[in-house]
Amino acid sequence: MEQQLKELRQHAAEELLHVATVDKLNELRVKYLGKKGSLTSVLRGLGSLTPEERPRVGQVVNEIRTELEQLIDLKNNELKQAELSLRLASEKIDVTLPGRKENLGHKHPLTITLDRIKSIFMQLGFEIAEGPEVEKDYYNFEALNLPKDHPARDMQDSFYITDEILLRTHTSPVQVRTMQNAKPNQPIRIIAPGKVYRRDYDATHSPMFHQVEGLVIGKGISFADLKGTLELFIHQMFGDNVGVRFRPSFFPFTEPSAEVDISCVMCSGKGCRVCKGTGWLEILGSGMVHPRVLEMSNYDPSQVSGFAFGMGVERIAMLIYGIDDLRLFYDNDLRFLRQF
Ligand code: DAH
Repeated sequence: MEQQLKELRQHAAEELLHVATVDKLNELRVKYLGKKGSLTSVLRGLGSLTPEERPRVGQVVNEIRTELEQLIDLKNNELKQAELSLRLASEKIDVTLPGRKENLGHKHPLTITLDRIKSIFMQLGFEIAEGPEVEKDYYNFEALNLPKDHPARDMQDSFYITDEILLRTHTSPVQVRTMQNAKPNQPIRIIAPGKVYRRDYDATHSPMFHQVEGLVIGKGISFADLKGTLELFIHQMFGDNVGVRFRPSFFPFTEPSAEVDISCVMCSGKGCRVCKGTGWLEILGSGMVHPRVLEMSNYDPSQVSGFAFGMGVERIAMLIYGIDDLRLFYDNDLRFLRQF
C-alpha cells in the first residue's frame, strides 16, 4: 500500500506540474482529493490493514494530502497571476492616441425650415394645432366649401381609401377641426404644420409634402391683418429687402382670396429661369375665411371674421437654399444633407 501511495503522489505531482489553466487544476483537485478521489479511496482501504500498520499508513496519507493541497494552492496562485497579466496586456490602452470623433447628425433642411416658420408665428402668439393625415372627405373638402361635384376638387385629386376617407390633400381640414372643437365664436390663432398627399410627381412636386396652414378668427379681423401678418412673416423668413405682392386669386374656402408672391430670391426680381422671367415667385395662398365656411363650423359671420393662409414647406426651403429638385429632400443622400 505504501508503494501505491508513493506512485500516486509521484503521479499527482507530475500532472500538477503540467496543468495550464485554473479549470484543469480544479479537475485535478477533484480527481485526487475529492470525495471520490484517489487519495480518499486509499484512505477507505485502511480498514484492511493490521492495527499496527494503520496509524503509520494513515499518517503518510495525511502527509500526502497536505503536500498536494499546498502544491495545488501554489499552482492556483501562479495560474491566476498569469491570467491576470495576460488580461492586463490585452486591455492596455494608449492614452496618447487622438480621440475618435463622434459622427453627430443634425436637423434635416426641411425640419430647419419648418422650425423657423413655427418660431416666427409663435412669436406672434400663434399656437400649433394638428390633425390626422388620414382624413374624412367632409373635413378635407365638404366643410371647406368644396361639395362633391365641385370642379376645384380636381386640382387636388388624392389617394382615396374609401369614398369618404382619403389622405388629406392640404392642411386646411385642421381649420375646420379647430373651429368645430372651439366654443361658439371663440377667437382662434393657430398654425397647423404637417404632411399632405397628392397624386403628383416631378422636380417640384412629390406625392407627400409638407404644408403650414394658418387661421386667425376674431371680432373685426380684416384683410389688413392678413397683409400685415404675412408681410411680417415673409420679411423675417426671406429678409427685409424682399418684395411682397398680393395677387387676386380664387379658393373656395376664402373670399376674397389672394396669392402671395415674393420678389425672386435668385435674380432679385430681374427675371431668370427660376421665376420664369417674371421676377416674382408664388409662395402661399391666403384669403378672408368664407362666410359659408364659418357657418358650417358654427361660427357666426355677422359677429366674427377671419383670415387663413397655406404654404408649402418644400417650396420655401428650395427658395432659401437654392435647391432645384425637391426629390433631393427625400433621397437621404449624405452628400446633400451634410451641406446644411
Ligand atoms: N389649401 C390650399 C392648397 O393646398 C392653400 C390655401 C389657400 C390655404 C388659401 C388657405 C388659404 O388657408 O386661405 O392649395
